Amino acid sequence: MPAPGYLDAVVASTQLRPTPFVPEVVLHCADDAYSVWINTSTTPTGARDDSAPMPFWSFPWAGGQALARYVLDNPDLVIGRRVLDLAAGSGLVAIAAAMAGASDVTANDIDPYASAAQELNAQANGVRITTLTADILDAETDADVVLAGDVCYEREFADRMVAFLVRARRRGADVLLGDPGRAYLPRGSLDEVTSYDVPTSLTLEDHTTKRTTIWRPQTLDDARRRNG
Ligand SMILES: C[S@@+](CC[C@H](N)C(=O)[O-])C[C@H]1O[C@@H](n2cnc3c(N)ncnc32)[C@H](O)[C@@H]1O
Repeated sequence: MPAPGYLDAVVASTQLRPTPFVPEVVLHCADDAYSVWINTSTTPTGARDDSAPMPFWSFPWAGGQALARYVLDNPDLVIGRRVLDLAAGSGLVAIAAAMAGASDVTANDIDPYASAAQELNAQANGVRITTLTADILDAETDADVVLAGDVCYEREFADRMVAFLVRARRRGADVLLGDPGRAYLPRGSLDEVTSYDVPTSLTLEDHTTKRTTIWRPQTLDDARRRNG
């Protein structure tokens, strides 16, 4: 369970709202990332920590919204299975997996405020998930299903993330990535599953709707099969 200071900061900076493309899920959301950051970057002594991460957890990103929609509309993917939501932010995808019937759901993020938001958001939706605050991208997972929403916006993060997803897929996990066309998406090594027009906020994006695709990373065997 995240420390009370993180939980209090999330409650103080956000309001509970339905998620535009996944209205069955309510999330603690903010209107303005900068004012949340002012709260979350202030240390217990009152000093400002300029290296504190932006509060990505205070918005549902297009990739996560699409993936959560897909999971709720295709519950067979997760029913009775162990699910890992990587770089979970608000925990939207993890919560969707728990609502859809997963037996065990872990939401992972490096930001302790994200873990606090995930805990509070899970409670608000009446589901249980486990939060894991760590960078696990160089490790392995034994989850049956691995999900990642909107994770290809920085080169090094995207490269490490996609390598993790491919390793998980090679081991036999079902792996899906939701992405609205971020700069470092490695399109050539992914198979398209489906696409949606996802409502987004002009606070985060340059359009009010983003075409967002659910991708499945290819293993070498997938690529060979596809190319005959
Ligand atoms: C754009 S947000 C996406 C959040 C959520 N998946 C969604 O779609 O709404 C990216 C998230 O990645 C997290 N992150 C960045 N580097 C990470 C890492 N190495 N391991 C786990 N999470 C990471 C950030 O803290 C942030 O919450």
